[in-house]
Amino acid sequence: MPSNQSGDAKRTSLHGFWSSRMVFILAVTGSAVGLGNIWKFPYIAGQNGGGAFVLVYLFCVVLIGMPVMMSEILIGRRGRRNPVTTMALLGEEEGGSRHWQWVGGMGVLAGILILSYYSVIAGWTLGYIVKSAAGAFTGASAELIGAEFGAFVGDWRQVVLVHSLFMGLTVFVVARGVERGLEQAVKIMVPALLLLLLILLGYSMTSGHFGEGVAFMFTPDFSKLTWNSVLVALGHAFFTLSLGMGAIMAYGAYLSDETSITESSIAVVIADTFIALLAGLVIFPLVFANGLNPASGPGLVFQTLPLAFGQMPGGAFFSTIFFILLSFAAWTSALGLMEPAVAWVVEHLNRTRAQAAVMIGSLIWAIGLGSALSTNVLSNFRFLINVDTNGDGIMDAKGTIFDNIDYLTSNIMLPLGGLLIVVFAGWVMCRNSTADELGGAGASFKIWRFLARYLAPMGILFVFMKAIGILDWIVALFG
Ligand code: PHE
Repeated sequence: MPSNQSGDAKRTSLHGFWSSRMVFILAVTGSAVGLGNIWKFPYIAGQNGGGAFVLVYLFCVVLIGMPVMMSEILIGRRGRRNPVTTMALLGEEEGGSRHWQWVGGMGVLAGILILSYYSVIAGWTLGYIVKSAAGAFTGASAELIGAEFGAFVGDWRQVVLVHSLFMGLTVFVVARGVERGLEQAVKIMVPALLLLLLILLGYSMTSGHFGEGVAFMFTPDFSKLTWNSVLVALGHAFFTLSLGMGAIMAYGAYLSDETSITESSIAVVIADTFIALLAGLVIFPLVFANGLNPASGPGLVFQTLPLAFGQMPGGAFFSTIFFILLSFAAWTSALGLMEPAVAWVVEHLNRTRAQAAVMIGSLIWAIGLGSALSTNVLSNFRFLINVDTNGDGIMDAKGTIFDNIDYLTSNIMLPLGGLLIVVFAGWVMCRNSTADELGGAGASFKIWRFLARYLAPMGILFVFMKAIGILDWIVALFG
């Protein structure tokens, strides 16, 4: 199949280019590193039994996340438009069908839904900046800090307020389109966050039950692993790397032709994984030292870290800085979550960037109220998925609005989007086009192509079918 796009007649970006390779890596890292690494990874690892889950997550990151990331960047760079238009354009050029635009469409929707609850959790971090600065955790016991968290998320006024504040901040930046400011923010934020995590690591190595924490994270006990946990690990690999919904594709559109996609992807994956593991190594020793439950859920980080800060000299100061940095990390991720939707509205509904940001932002804010109220007014409004509410490993209730939106997006929409993206890059696009983007048909290209054509799609499908039970059903039918 010949490619219509020859090397010397490439499309050019509509919005300029990243100023350097380093800036691109930082921007993608800024999108990847967020609440997923520090808030979500530790609590889902805790809920899914630790070691075995972490191992599966690492496999998913390397064998599925890597090839999907390379595919998204190369598709984005070749299309050089918003994800919906890019998929339509390349679909036509490479495979004769504009229907591939629906992959971009699903990404737009996934971004909206994820940001709706992401903003609520980011709001919690904003609230914790204020609490830290006021010295609320200084010398406080685990019980007190737990009660403080419960009271905070249990008060709908406070949660809605901070959710609104975070959405406001996000809309403001997206509306002004200050990519320059973003570059600066990411340059300072990622290294600073890393430094603070290292300080915390020092604390948990000396004051926590470090050996127990390490054992929990790295000793795989496969008896604790269900197929649903495997799906959660796969879903989290997509979530934490910002894959499967077009955010990275949108960033790839501004990447210069010279930058190596393979090397950039490796750098981002290493940075993102390192930060998640570091967060786990800080949190689990503290969990065990203070008799907390690793499976206690979304409040885990908000209950363990303040406890550590409360006992450190200068804790109120460090705690304030930490939650500021975490809010920044959430903010740079939120921009990526909103970008596909905003770019789409600008191009298809002919709005200015500011109008689009306000429209999409209001929609996301309204949907987010459902998640904001999931820990208070609507905490008993439960449906569809099963959850474990007290961390005893038994699914004892249906999920809240927050639980359901999280499950639908992370565990279904992102892996499905990722599946369609690697299938597109591996099977629909001509070998020449992809080789051209990935710097020639060398060894790394061959590995990528094998993963993109076989291992990643088959792995995603297999986990889906196992978790949903289809495979067992088929086996039973023929067995
Ligand atoms: N990767 C981000 C995190 O870990 C979340 C995210 C998902 C951002 C998808 C953009 C797109 O917090």
